[in-house]
Amino acid sequence: MMTFLWETNFFLYMFSTSLDSLILKRTSWRTFEETPISSPLQDKLKEMFECKNITSPFGGNCRFSWFDMTDVAGSEKKQYGTYGMIKGAQHFILSTISESKYSWENCGYLLEYIILAATEMKLGTCWLGGTFNKSNFAQQLTLKENEIIPAIVPIGLPKKRRIKENIIRKAIKAKKRLDWNKLFFLNDATTPLVTETREEYKQALENVRLGPSASNKQPWRIVKDEKLDLFHFYILNEDSKMAKAYQKMRKLDIGIAVCHFDLTMQERSVSGHWLFNNPEIPSTREWKYTISWKAE
Ligand SMILES: Cc1cc2nc3c(=O)[nH]c(=O)nc-3n(C[C@H](O)[C@H](O)[C@H](O)COP(=O)(O)O)c2cc1C
Repeated sequence: MMTFLWETNFFLYMFSTSLDSLILKRTSWRTFEETPISSPLQDKLKEMFECKNITSPFGGNCRFSWFDMTDVAGSEKKQYGTYGMIKGAQHFILSTISESKYSWENCGYLLEYIILAATEMKLGTCWLGGTFNKSNFAQQLTLKENEIIPAIVPIGLPKKRRIKENIIRKAIKAKKRLDWNKLFFLNDATTPLVTETREEYKQALENVRLGPSASNKQPWRIVKDEKLDLFHFYILNEDSKMAKAYQKMRKLDIGIAVCHFDLTMQERSVSGHWLFNNPEIPSTREWKYTISWKAE
């Protein structure tokens, strides 16, 4: 089955597998074969993220670079600390942004898009927002003064998970996701949206639910405005004293959620558009409004 998913003037990738199955298939992979990815596959990936001016509903600048660990001498490899989390990865995708209002969210959307494409190519990937040595990876790039690396992704041929990796996964309950009634709401912030009758919406929400998030915290909350056919996306900010770094990770998380929702709608040819218009719904407590999707 050929599924046409996404096309813009600047960013093009044809998924040949259904997005739902790719989202189900993607899991974080931290143990890799030392064999490099074949050149044609590398080219396919690089083609995708070397396009100029790629952007998402959030807008903003984000670029991606390819880093080969194979170019690094054995003794120097340790400097690229991924703190024992990652083993055997020969390649990394490095994301770079210059900070602006939605630059983290934009990065979350685009990098997840690339990860789903890599999943289709049967490659293993893992979002890394915290457990890597930022300054050493930064040295590989010519960063402008205000540019930063929000996240990197080791990418390669997956190898059987190590015991250590399985322990990490167990500790963060990597396979588990919150139920619908904790994530999705109807018209206000207190009435759970227990199910959804329209198949396209149901699948888009389910695909948000199945997405990855930092420490598997699943901080996305969505309120559906039934009358206006609108979905409002929020980030849970349960502790205002939370370290800034974590709050930024959550912006990546909501970017990922928007990516899953958007691509699911596109795959099903459901017309809609994204807008920034906080509906000021009462009792959203510590939630932070981010963006809305409106059916057309
Ligand atoms: C924004 C973001 C940052 C992440 N940072 C790290 C990290 O620094 N180290 C790590 O081992 N995993 C990291 N992860 C992976 C999550 O722990 C993982 O996605 C989550 O536990 C769910 O597991 P799954 O991806 O296998 O579905 C990150 C994920 C996201 C989305």
